[in-house]
Amino acid sequence: MCGIVGYTGKQKAYPILINGLKALEYRGYDSAGIALFESGKLKISKEKGRVKNLDDNSDLKSSNSSIGIAHTRWATHGVPSSDNAHPHLDNSGNFAVVHNGIIENYLELKEFLSKNGYKFKSETDTEVIPNLIHYYYEKEKDFLQAFNRTIKDLKGSYAILVLSPLFDGIYVAKMNSPLVIGEGEDENFIASDIPAVLEYTKNFYFLNDGDLAYITNNSLVFYNNDLKEVNIPKKVIDWDKNAADKNGYEDFMLKEIFEQPRAINETLAGRIILEDKCNFLDINIDSKYLKNVNKIYIVACGTAMHAGRVGKTVLEELTDIVTIVDVASEFRYNYQVIDKNTLCIFISQSGETADTIAALKLAKKNGAKTIAISNVIGSSITREADYTIYTHAGPEIAVASTKAYVSQISTISALAIYFAEILQVKDITYLEKLKKELLDIPEKIDDILKNSENYKKIAKDIHNVKNCFYIGRGNDYTTAMEGSLKLKEIAYIHSEAYPAGELKHGPIALIEDGTSVIGIITNKKILEKTISNLQEVITRGAKVVLVTDCNYENNDMIIINIPKTNYLFAPILAIVPLQLIAYYVAKEKNLDVDKPRNLAKSVTVE
Ligand code: M6R
Repeated sequence: MCGIVGYTGKQKAYPILINGLKALEYRGYDSAGIALFESGKLKISKEKGRVKNLDDNSDLKSSNSSIGIAHTRWATHGVPSSDNAHPHLDNSGNFAVVHNGIIENYLELKEFLSKNGYKFKSETDTEVIPNLIHYYYEKEKDFLQAFNRTIKDLKGSYAILVLSPLFDGIYVAKMNSPLVIGEGEDENFIASDIPAVLEYTKNFYFLNDGDLAYITNNSLVFYNNDLKEVNIPKKVIDWDKNAADKNGYEDFMLKEIFEQPRAINETLAGRIILEDKCNFLDINIDSKYLKNVNKIYIVACGTAMHAGRVGKTVLEELTDIVTIVDVASEFRYNYQVIDKNTLCIFISQSGETADTIAALKLAKKNGAKTIAISNVIGSSITREADYTIYTHAGPEIAVASTKAYVSQISTISALAIYFAEILQVKDITYLEKLKKELLDIPEKIDDILKNSENYKKIAKDIHNVKNCFYIGRGNDYTTAMEGSLKLKEIAYIHSEAYPAGELKHGPIALIEDGTSVIGIITNKKILEKTISNLQEVITRGAKVVLVTDCNYENNDMIIINIPKTNYLFAPILAIVPLQLIAYYVAKEKNLDVDKPRNLAKSVTVE
């Protein structure tokens, strides 16, 4: 995973690189390093720990250098340490490299280089890159040729930046790892994502996999892997810089929870139109194709997969097409019954999740039509899919996904209504009612957010429990899964989600005095059934919190009432209290909410 940033221009590079790293810390934060080119020499500073630690201790802080590269690491090969931190140098000390990704054949390359006399100082896969560059440079005496030969030897994924006294700029290569190039005036930027350099420019270029680039302060040259110069179109990104700041909130996660109404409004704008047909200009799917679709797959990971589970219910109910949801890392290795009449939808906030991208490639190879739903413009998944629908949630920085989740459900719900209109299988008045319900959701979330202080009290009760269960039926079970993931992820409390009816088939044995159980009921039809399951755990000593939109009172449990909507969309509302509970439990435990341990925002390894 890891974050990389590069700068060349007229300003001091150090503060720009450090700020970029701070913005990229969500991608990994166990060690950080920086390389500057100063007085004809490469200067390197690396520290174990967070970027702040590097900044506090680096002797490069006062450097006037105006060119450099930097890295924040999420360890894959080798423990977090300053030796394993990037940048890595080759044995001659001429090539400094930062790398995001995994070099799968690094052991083979290391053996080859060792036989040729190279020595290694770290346990990383990355260290083979600068040494291989040196090996080929000795032969070619031309950096670009040597760099291209190096990347052709690499198997796996990489975004690489190289700094050297042998040239004026920064060389770049990319394969299956995110990388953007930002163009300024007499200065240029390279980063793992847009927000890292958004305060300096809105003009961006997105390299294709296999491409290389040479970036100086006043030129950008792009090459394909045959070293032919290629044109890459410039894209203007109109994100507001404040969207990538905390904007007065204590944490990004809290800010992003509060941004959910706006995220949904922007995602639905122009797509859901009352008293008119939905508008999905992003995809060009005609009725003839859609009528022949016999199966829809939704494939994703983590929270995005939960959004897919909600999407399945809406799609099946509105289109009558069987919809299967699969975790991307499973989909890839399962037996696939896919053909040209299978529509595969891939959901990924970052658009860089390795398993989701691999699953998409597989579905395409088997002849399916593919749609990517992503939040990041130009991300890898959007370049692989036949069609892309963007969620317009704005940059999501906290590792725990919140506003992207509700935007993903909103997108897929709007898509289902659009399909239903094309297929003409549902009553128009019903669809019109659904559109209205969907457009009303943001206001209802605002109402839930008004009571956010109440969750602090619930969090106090929960913060020191050892086990927590989330239960619900149907879509409420999906909300249970997502709520449970949030609690595990940021509050480090063991929690599990179960279909409410399943508890008595085993897990109820774990319920004892003080166990926390959170129930979700947003469908009146199953109110009594799930209430009975909650009574069963209360009898065995559990403390119960119920999130519901039904009119229900019970003094044996804490009840959180949420506004009513169509049950298909209720997960968008029901998750909000659960996000807030997880958030305040993590705060109660004094944890770093935005950067939970062992995690990274985009999972670019398989
Ligand atoms: O970027 P993606 O949507 O593909 O990421 C998928 C998961 O890694 C992600 O949703 C993860 O589960 C979140 N950290 C959950 O909050």
